[in-house]
Amino acid sequence: VSSTRAARKPRRAAPIPLLLVHGGAGALASDRDRRIHTRAVREALQHGLERLESGAAAAVLAAVSYMESETVLNAGRGATLDVSGRVTLDAGFMDGRTLRFGSVGCVTRTPNPIILAHALSRDGTYGRFLVGASADALVERVGAPLCSPEDLITHRALEVWRGRRNKERLVSADTVGAVALDAEGQVAAAVSTGGLSRKPAGRVGDSAVVGAGFWSENRLGACVTTGIGEAMLREGTARRCVKLLAGDLSPADAAQTALEELSDRHKRAPAGLILVTSDGAFAIAHTSPAMTAGLAGPGRRVTVRSRWA
Ligand code: GLY
Repeated sequence: VSSTRAARKPRRAAPIPLLLVHGGAGALASDRDRRIHTRAVREALQHGLERLESGAAAAVLAAVSYMESETVLNAGRGATLDVSGRVTLDAGFMDGRTLRFGSVGCVTRTPNPIILAHALSRDGTYGRFLVGASADALVERVGAPLCSPEDLITHRALEVWRGRRNKERLVSADTVGAVALDAEGQVAAAVSTGGLSRKPAGRVGDSAVVGAGFWSENRLGACVTTGIGEAMLREGTARRCVKLLAGDLSPADAAQTALEELSDRHKRAPAGLILVTSDGAFAIAHTSPAMTAGLAGPGRRVTVRSRWA
């Protein structure tokens, strides 16, 4: 487990805003991949930072929408293909003030499922989770960009899919995510993914499931995860990590504990997470060989690395 050494700071009257973004835990195959991922995460941080004054929710939505619209990460257009050669997208959003969440699974009609997830977080008392045709039907209703299922498939993703046609094992695929704390003390979490490459048709992973792939509550903080979703689904990793902050653990120790619990029980499930606390501390941690991630805030230099040790 690699993590920052940031210690928990004393509670502040007015928190210093902070945005964290990641482009997925995995193994970057080449220096070129590392450069491409680093640039995408840096630009997502810059987009999110421009919106941070409007609040944590606006910042994480801007960062994640940007990464969905990039074709190099496993989210939105250019995401990985399922076993039948289709792109189906999952996304989740959670508001730390209301604890309302919104989730969508198996979306095929927009490159920006995070817009649908955010819209659903305003639905009902708790929020809403919709999959398949019901989620796709939201695209026009909420004004998200509309596309055909084929528009989501890039040449690169198709080549990767063809190259893996005869491989049995599902491989880990990246996810993109963001967490933020704003000047009002609000936190928010947003996550989006194409899921595992060659996943079974209809499979939904942790990124659409509140508690597993994302969690946000103003009292403690916000967390999003990346890695093989089934492991996080079983452990409820994002919620577990945030709840660990209620004890005496520093953010780095909470992140490390949550990931150790995951790797103790799931030896073959490398993972990663980003965590921001309600008092402005953070952790970035991963058990995967790499995780391109970074942070930004007013008066703070934008920092992006592909390994956090
Ligand atoms: N973490 C993304 C997925 O397993 O779907």
